[in-house]
Amino acid sequence: MSEPIDLAAFPRDFLWGTATAAYQIEGAVAEDGRAPSIWDTFSHTPGKIANGDHGDVACDHYHRWREDIGLMRQLGVNAYRLSVAWPRVIPGGTGPVNPKGLAFYDELVDALLEAGITPSVTLYHWDLPQALQDRGGWPERDTALAFAEYASVVTERLGDRVTLWATLNEPSCSAWIGHLEGTMAPGWTDLTAAVRASCHLLLGHGLATQAIRAAAPGARIGIVNNLSTVHPATDRPEDRAAARRHDGHVNRWWLDPVHGRGFPADMVETYGVELPVSDPDLAAIAAPLDWLGLNYYFPAHVTDDPDGPAPYARSVRREGVPRTGMDWEIDASGIETLLLRLTEEYGARQIHVTENGSAFPDVVRPDGSIDDPERRDYLERHLAACASAARKGAPLAGYFAWSLLDNFEWAYGYDKRFGLVHVDYRTQARTIKGSGHRYADIVRVHRGRSRRAA
Ligand code: IFM
Repeated sequence: MSEPIDLAAFPRDFLWGTATAAYQIEGAVAEDGRAPSIWDTFSHTPGKIANGDHGDVACDHYHRWREDIGLMRQLGVNAYRLSVAWPRVIPGGTGPVNPKGLAFYDELVDALLEAGITPSVTLYHWDLPQALQDRGGWPERDTALAFAEYASVVTERLGDRVTLWATLNEPSCSAWIGHLEGTMAPGWTDLTAAVRASCHLLLGHGLATQAIRAAAPGARIGIVNNLSTVHPATDRPEDRAAARRHDGHVNRWWLDPVHGRGFPADMVETYGVELPVSDPDLAAIAAPLDWLGLNYYFPAHVTDDPDGPAPYARSVRREGVPRTGMDWEIDASGIETLLLRLTEEYGARQIHVTENGSAFPDVVRPDGSIDDPERRDYLERHLAACASAARKGAPLAGYFAWSLLDNFEWAYGYDKRFGLVHVDYRTQARTIKGSGHRYADIVRVHRGRSRRAA
């Protein structure tokens, strides 16, 4: 049993949620006018995904969303973070809107509200319409303009009921893993393209922020970044410099421009790539936000790697420390450090932990139940660290466990299970795991206490 969670540290109207993303759960990739995204293409490219998995069916959420809202009710959560699939809404990336695509999210939002669950809608969780990739994708400026157009279409339709909006999910993964490391869609390994993509993703964020505010003046807008604490592997000056570069790569590159500081000069020099952004673009990127989303999973320990790819810092695997089934090191203190960093260094006015969770190999018992003490422990430790950050002044307004359901874990396919709810992919049967029951208890206690105090 890990340390107790100081639930009184969380505000009364705290958002207790779970999170998912469209391509990871929806399936129905060729239904009702949806067109392929870069993830359809990538996952059907031989050798890219473990076991040749893909998102064609996934959790079949497109047809089972009512049952999934029922699971959220069983968990007692009052919020749900979902993403809208751009290729469902504007299949060609730009141009004609697909009414059936919008209708799906319209009905989903109504049913969530009916169930007393606040939707938090992310506009881009990596599923770029393939049609836009065919025109160059994120390395091209037009993609940022297309994103703003799409954001406007979605908010015009849902903005009368949805208040919480996030533009991008983890743009660093889209840029660095998708265009530099090549293990996510579109699978490129090109530093210039990656840097250009990073700039256009952030420009798209800024332009979309303007578009959302125009369409839904009451919207509360944020951006979701996956951040890590970064530690040098040794005290050597080279490793300390590498840690600074890694911090620039995964944290500062994404936070500084959004906070009006421009792209960090040390990283511009490290990449050595001309940035495709002007001063007006930087001003758009720095559009004021209402909240920041933090996705936290693991810390990074890095060593200097002069012959490796930019940013010339390589993560090292430390022995003898606890790890998840992703082989990610477990360090709950990292979430507290990052919440305080967003508060103190970036002046965050409101923060949502938009993702946090762990994959472990689950064992289904003969009676069908799933006990997952390691996931439960991860959850408890990270919530305790969130509470500690809140006590120290972090304006934390919500926590969204990743994930509601086991789902398509990108290049890892279906083998890695992050859900509070187990999915049997043969039958699509859903079973709440021990960690889900524990989360429900925590939520019940805090919400009960908040109701009594109101
Ligand atoms: O599954 C992903 C999610 O799509 C983005 N954040 C990290 C999760 C776990 O890898």
